[in-house]
Amino acid sequence: MKTYLFGYRVPHGWLVAMLLAPALRGWSADLPALKDAFRDHFWVGVAVNRSIVMGTASFRRSLDRVNEDIALVKTHFNQIAAENDMKWQLIHPREGTNGYDFGPADAFVEFGVSHGMQVAGHTLVWHSQTPQWVFAGTNPPPVAPAGSSATGDSATAGATATNGVPRPRPRPGFGGFGRYDGPRASRDELLQRMRDHIHTVVGRYKGRIKVWDVVNEAIADGGGTPVLRSSLWFEIVGPDYIAKAFQYAHEADPDAVLRYNDYGLEDPAKRRKLLTLIRSLQEQGVPVHAIGSQAHVHVGTTFESMDQALTEMATLGLPIHITELDVNSAQGGQRGTGADVADNASTTRGGLVEEADRRLADAYAGLFRAFLKHRDSVKVVTFWGANDAVSWRGQGKPLLFDGDNRPKPAFYAVVAEAGKESSPGVRPP
Ligand code: XIL
Repeated sequence: MKTYLFGYRVPHGWLVAMLLAPALRGWSADLPALKDAFRDHFWVGVAVNRSIVMGTASFRRSLDRVNEDIALVKTHFNQIAAENDMKWQLIHPREGTNGYDFGPADAFVEFGVSHGMQVAGHTLVWHSQTPQWVFAGTNPPPVAPAGSSATGDSATAGATATNGVPRPRPRPGFGGFGRYDGPRASRDELLQRMRDHIHTVVGRYKGRIKVWDVVNEAIADGGGTPVLRSSLWFEIVGPDYIAKAFQYAHEADPDAVLRYNDYGLEDPAKRRKLLTLIRSLQEQGVPVHAIGSQAHVHVGTTFESMDQALTEMATLGLPIHITELDVNSAQGGQRGTGADVADNASTTRGGLVEEADRRLADAYAGLFRAFLKHRDSVKVVTFWGANDAVSWRGQGKPLLFDGDNRPKPAFYAVVAEAGKESSPGVRPP
């Protein structure tokens, strides 16, 4: 076949390559795909927002850039999670059966299914990004103890008027849906809203969304007591809000894999609380099918710490899904593995650590070595974003691809770990 460009005859392949060049910018055709490198071990997923699944420009990315991001997602990943569009705030912003905005979530599911990807729903019950109407009713809120603020944000700690610990400072307007301090719904009203929401959302995507984050971040940070974070769910319903959420999700789709999802499980103290919570749910026969470990970690995280975390979590006998992986290279985030959205900005302050690229590659290599060691338990590894430009911690440059979708040294380090697994004979001592 003859192909002409500006009057010149050119090989057909060239023309195709030139047309595809903008979409392929940043990686060469022979770059291994992450999903292929780990195909025998676990799904390799990525969190996406509406710009990627709808093919529209965003405040961060021009349409050209979005098209490059889409190509990257299709090349490297065989699983997707909704970074924001299935959170209550976005999918169900108003009360009532007409209060749902399904457009972006529908596009997300369609994108995944049409590209043969496993589709994960994130998230049904969470203290954050939940509209205030959900908690509103006619019961007066509890009176805060003297000297404490009545308007604290329960997103920040397990501190409330009901457990006697003063609330932290208020964060007015956080997420546009700040802490709700008005008259509250009763337990029965809130459970009814939770059930309606879960049945509607899970039911709509039944059979297409294979795995759901049913309850997100219910555990209080750090050691000591209490085990559970004092969110409005906890305060109004009581601790069994978790069991109820799983029960409703199981009713709505008995075949879906139901996850409990949390961050900071690399911290031994928080992990102990996870084991306590999940064992208690298992004893009650609650249908919790997988542990979601977010893994918003930093470059100081080692193979040993992840190995230990996975060893202990595996004792629960459930599959482990790494649900929100990123490795923060900013100085601000080098101390803990907390990932409360209310504190996120501080974790990316202070510029990058020294030798950030090398340290990121070393950390990712150690993490993937641990995931591969535990591949009997680890069934999914999902990155929290496609590249550094769209990451929620972009300033900490936490992902495998830079803002131009070029693979970073960390990408090659991760792929090399897969290679060692498939040819153990060449594994270095
Ligand atoms: C984050 C998103 O990445 C941001 O875009 C949004 O502004 C806030 O939420 N734990 C979770 C995720 O379970 O839903 C959070 O995602 C990150 C921490």
